[in-house]
Amino acid sequence: MAQEVRGVIAPAKDEPVRIETVVVPDPGPGEAVVRIQACGVCHTDLHYKQGGINDDFPFLLGHEAAGVVESVGDGVSDVAPGDFVILNWRAVCGKCRACLRGRPWYCFDTHNARQKMTLTDGTELSPALGIGAFIEKTLVAAGQCTKVDPAVAPEVAGLLGCGVMAGIGAAINTGNVGRGDSVAVIGCGGVGDAAIAGSRLAGAARIIAVDIDDRKLELARSMGATHTVNSRTTDPVEAIRELTGGFGADVVIEAVGRPETYKQAFYARDLAGTVVLVGVPTPEMKLELPLLDVFGRGGALKSSWYGDCLPSRDFPMLIDLHLQGRLDLGAFVTETIQLDEVEKAFERMHRGDVLRSVVVL
Ligand code: APR
Ligand code: ZN
Ligand code: ZN
Repeated sequence: MAQEVRGVIAPAKDEPVRIETVVVPDPGPGEAVVRIQACGVCHTDLHYKQGGINDDFPFLLGHEAAGVVESVGDGVSDVAPGDFVILNWRAVCGKCRACLRGRPWYCFDTHNARQKMTLTDGTELSPALGIGAFIEKTLVAAGQCTKVDPAVAPEVAGLLGCGVMAGIGAAINTGNVGRGDSVAVIGCGGVGDAAIAGSRLAGAARIIAVDIDDRKLELARSMGATHTVNSRTTDPVEAIRELTGGFGADVVIEAVGRPETYKQAFYARDLAGTVVLVGVPTPEMKLELPLLDVFGRGGALKSSWYGDCLPSRDFPMLIDLHLQGRLDLGAFVTETIQLDEVEKAFERMHRGDVLRSVVVL
């Protein structure tokens, strides 16, 4: 029997979000219905609402979520009703060439639920990033569910569904930060701070946080930054060089997504260092660099999609570390809110007041 539940809908470009009744079908083959317990508010949800991703309105927003599997369709064996899961927007196969080469982001075989959730008048909804989790229950592909230790608070677990995983993974998966490395992180929002926490976890010796907002730098210190640079008043490339014996950082992580910070990241690394680009630029942004500088610097320039995470490997591991007190994922939750407060949370996010607002249900 299809069920009717409450969900947060972005009805049309730039219109405020509103709560509507959503019809959730029973899970078909390979699908699962998950009772959502928590879902973080991410920039990408705001981009959907603003029409910045595509025009497939109405959207069912929310994609950083954790909850309990309620029912599963035919052929589902990896998760069962009652399992506590984190949802992911890449249901990677683990078997294709991309997965086997350690780049699951490029998996050739990811999928979402085949059936559609609808409004009561039958209008089909587009779930944000193939999830749609500002809702009491949602329909996903079973492969989008990863079981983790249920001892963790749902509002903490859900964070791994997107931004925090992107940042930690940028450091430990894409950047391969190792013991004793020097790391610079440019942009200390939720993603940058997660990169800092990931670098600390990986044993980095120096972690240099760069931001234009002193409030963010203070927070970055509590996440593990050993040095901070306000790039409004200090040239960050110079400062990073000075703090790394004149060489530049072994790994520089860009977590803003703008041409000037991409450029800073490019020049702030050691000649053999790695630049990890996790900040997402807009289509019109361009970067001009002297080719001789591109040629003359060895090392690597890598983009990091979703922290190059393999959910089945990374989610349970990070939850374990959190439960052991070795990684404080709770520090990323600025506030918990109700389903009808998403619009307000977008405003706070826009003003830079929060790392993460998390809807709890
Ligand atoms: N130099 C340094 N820091 C900057 C600059 C700049 N020119 N401009 C903005 N910042 C800082 C902000 O002060 C803020 O602390 O970058 C941070 C951005 O943080 P958030 O807005 O909270 O964004 P976040 O969720 O961390 O995502 C950052 O990563 O995955 C991507 O799409 C995401 O592009 C976005 C980026
Ligand atoms: Zn694959
Ligand atoms: Zn997101």
